[in-house]
Amino acid sequence: MRLLVCGGAGFIGSNFVRARVRERADHVTVLDKLTYAGRMENLQDVADAPGFRFVHGAIEDPEAVADAINGAEAVVNFAAETHVDRSIADPDAFVKTNTIGTYVLLEAARERDARYVQISTDEVYGSIEDGSFTESSPLAPSSPYSATKAGADLLVQSYVHTHGVHASICRGSNNYGPYQYPEKLIPLMVLNALHGDALPVYGDGMQVRNWLYVGDFASAIGQVLEAGAPGEVYNVGGPDECANIEIVRRIIELTGAEKELIEHVRDRPGHDRRYSLCSEKTRALGWEPRVRLREGLERTVKWYRENEPWWEPIRSGEYREYYERQYGRSLRS
Ligand code: NAD
Ligand code: DAU
Repeated sequence: MRLLVCGGAGFIGSNFVRARVRERADHVTVLDKLTYAGRMENLQDVADAPGFRFVHGAIEDPEAVADAINGAEAVVNFAAETHVDRSIADPDAFVKTNTIGTYVLLEAARERDARYVQISTDEVYGSIEDGSFTESSPLAPSSPYSATKAGADLLVQSYVHTHGVHASICRGSNNYGPYQYPEKLIPLMVLNALHGDALPVYGDGMQVRNWLYVGDFASAIGQVLEAGAPGEVYNVGGPDECANIEIVRRIIELTGAEKELIEHVRDRPGHDRRYSLCSEKTRALGWEPRVRLREGLERTVKWYRENEPWWEPIRSGEYREYYERQYGRSLRS
């Protein structure tokens, strides 16, 4: 296929691009603004592949989009501001990228009659005490991040309904794996544990997430791209649920760090307690997750151990300032 992948220099987007280029020989154009989370290093394995093109630009910029979409049969939109804590501190870019950016992409897909897949999140449903969200559960986002993602999903559905755009939505649960920026729970804890730094657990650490290995999300998105129906939402949940504190304890085991590094810090405002997705509809397309949490965590710790040249420049750059702002005052050590 000839694909335009927006946000393809980020964590999930780059894993998706790598899989599509290697396994399907797709011709891929990546459009990416290269924010703090987007890195050309994430695409170095595919940079010389036939048909690969990189366009540096923002999805909310119609000119950049017009250049990048040229020749594409389908658009897959990963581009977003993605970190909940940053959306609480400074939501401006979340509204611009996640909502206005999606609108600009939908207009371009409509004009060119391109297929469209929006990458969304389980966070649009809010928190669930028991059971699992289905695709028909109501939207009840809790954070500025999830509210902008829910807004984007509604725009996508309006373009299907009003303009007949062939668009589907994939709502994924918490991803983890190689190339994830270390602001997120698992890579943050892995790198801190490897450095003997404090492990900052928000509140009681009993919040539950539905962990999905990134390769499994990439394969589900491929399935939806090929077989998803217009206007339909597809939940993509991981095979295991786990409380944050258990994840941190497992990382301590895998890295050999001291358990005294755990520090319970001030909770995230509006923190969702539990996410859980029912993914039967996506499984009916022929998808299933292959990597259980135990194995995925082992693989992930191994990857971070072996890829210091990837994360070392991050830890010493913008991330340091972010880390000080986010954790500086609440950590003992
Ligand atoms: P990420 O933060 O690692 O990467 C985001 C990418 O988007 C970066 O390459 C960044 O440079 C790019 N980008 C940001 N603003 C842009 C703009 N205005 N124009 C063009 N590019 C821009 O994110 P991720 O974790 O890989 O998430 C990718 C998508 O998947 C997002 O839409 C996110 O909402 C969704 N999602 C993430 C998870 C998760 O656990 N990480 C789970 C479910 C869904
Ligand atoms: O559920 C899908 C979502 O998963 C995606 O849509 C988001 O883009 C992605 O960022 C992620 O959101 P979360 O808020 O769930 O992920 P995060 O890694 O920030 O946090 C996971 C859990 O760990 C959450 O309960 C908060 C907690 N946490 C996080 C950090 C960074 C801590 O206890 N300490 C921390 O330092």
